[in-house]
Amino acid sequence: MKIAMIGTGYVGLVSGVCFSDFGHDVICVDKDPGKIERLNRGEVPIYEPGLDVLMAKNVAAGRLSFTGDLAAAVDGADAVFIAVGTPTRRGDGHADLSYVMAAAEEIAAALTGYTVVVTKSTVPVGTNRQVRQVIRKARPEAEFDVASNPEFLREGAAIDDFMRPDRVVVGVSSERAKDVMGEIYRPLFLREFPILYTDLETAEMIKYAANAFLATKITFINEIARLCEKVGADVKEVARGMGLDGRIGNKFLHAGPGYGGSCFPKDTQALARMGQDHAVPMQITETVIKVNDEVKRRMIDKIVDLCGGSVNGKTITVLGVTFKPNTDDMRDAPSLTIVPALIGAGAKVRVVDPQGMREAQHMLPGVNWMDDAYKAAQKSDCVVLLTEWNEFRALDLKKLAKKMTTARMADLRNIYSAKDAKKAGFEGYVSVGR
Ligand SMILES: NC(=O)c1ccc[n+]([C@@H]2O[C@H](COP(=O)([O-])OP(=O)(O)OC[C@H]3O[C@@H](n4cnc5c(N)ncnc54)[C@H](O)[C@@H]3O)[C@@H](O)[C@H]2O)c1
Repeated sequence: MKIAMIGTGYVGLVSGVCFSDFGHDVICVDKDPGKIERLNRGEVPIYEPGLDVLMAKNVAAGRLSFTGDLAAAVDGADAVFIAVGTPTRRGDGHADLSYVMAAAEEIAAALTGYTVVVTKSTVPVGTNRQVRQVIRKARPEAEFDVASNPEFLREGAAIDDFMRPDRVVVGVSSERAKDVMGEIYRPLFLREFPILYTDLETAEMIKYAANAFLATKITFINEIARLCEKVGADVKEVARGMGLDGRIGNKFLHAGPGYGGSCFPKDTQALARMGQDHAVPMQITETVIKVNDEVKRRMIDKIVDLCGGSVNGKTITVLGVTFKPNTDDMRDAPSLTIVPALIGAGAKVRVVDPQGMREAQHMLPGVNWMDDAYKAAQKSDCVVLLTEWNEFRALDLKKLAKKMTTARMADLRNIYSAKDAKKAGFEGYVSVGR
């Protein structure tokens, strides 16, 4: 199959590379010339474990290339995937579809022969029909179908998720499009990964329902964590006790500083807006959004309380600022709420993050970037463990405490315990829900 991937970000690049590894001919397109230049030099513009090796392999095999020329990529393609961003629209919480619609217009102008135009971006219900209208209006004679193929990969484990998915969801409205999509995903079908064919609307809805459900699960345990703190229970054990129940499952039950990232915040907002538009308020999702905001702010209070009621003039070392480990993605990371609040309250903030600095430095002005947790902790008043990168999971707490002016730790990922911290010489330790 000949595939054009429009948008070469976290999703487009991973999908393009993996499709080429299936054996398809893939051209990845991006309107950012800097990105295309780097890709053509063999550089991966994002941090995603394993992507560099797989990309180099498929470029060398002649199955994968990169261009800024959308028309050339679309010409003769069997399928054109739209994998551009759908951020929150300023002001109203709706998904901003301007990138999707602009891509659809450009694709329309370049279509040759029968093509399936597949939306991989997360888009509100009805968008695929809109894409079809846009293309039909621009090119009434064009031979094409639209398909919805939402993506479920997780940053940091994206290749494995793409190659070994829990399921692939494909929304189609014609047998011809279904055949093309079936051919594209054939390698996964042969390995018996479930491929779910639905109509367009159902596929679009599955993605929002899944993300909102996961965001709800996280927020639920964060709310339980708060109550645990008041009543003397340990949320880690509560989560374990809940998660062993097969009906509940143990994933997404880790109490922490609130969900962030490129998907949950914007997708919950977009679902809430969709509900309002159809006079079916998404009450649970709306509450989740509100509670999650409170969770993030509660972390600031925790740090301030730990520092004796004020962080003014104190030096705080923050370990990890990306929204989760193994990615450099900073979109809606809890650190973007917590770090500026600490600086605003007069703290001097040092940050260590294994991969986040390049993305984060313009988003977190006024912090001092350092490359080693122990060096950063030197003469500081508090360490905040915000993102659980592996290198922060096995810190030598004794060594860390010794370097600090006042040894305090806000462990917002529940990696350590009050007992460990005390033994290592910490005079203050807080975590979440314990
Ligand atoms: N990041 C994730 O983990 C994830 C997971 C599942 C689904 N999604 C969804 O996938 C979509 C893409 O997300 P992302 O994180 O990859 O976004 P991204 O911002 O990393 O990448 C989007 C890319 O599209 C390019 N682009 C925009 N308009 C273009 C055009 N007309 N022609 C060519 N290139 C264009 C941009 O330059 C950018 O490089 C979103 O809808 C998102 O919700 C993301």
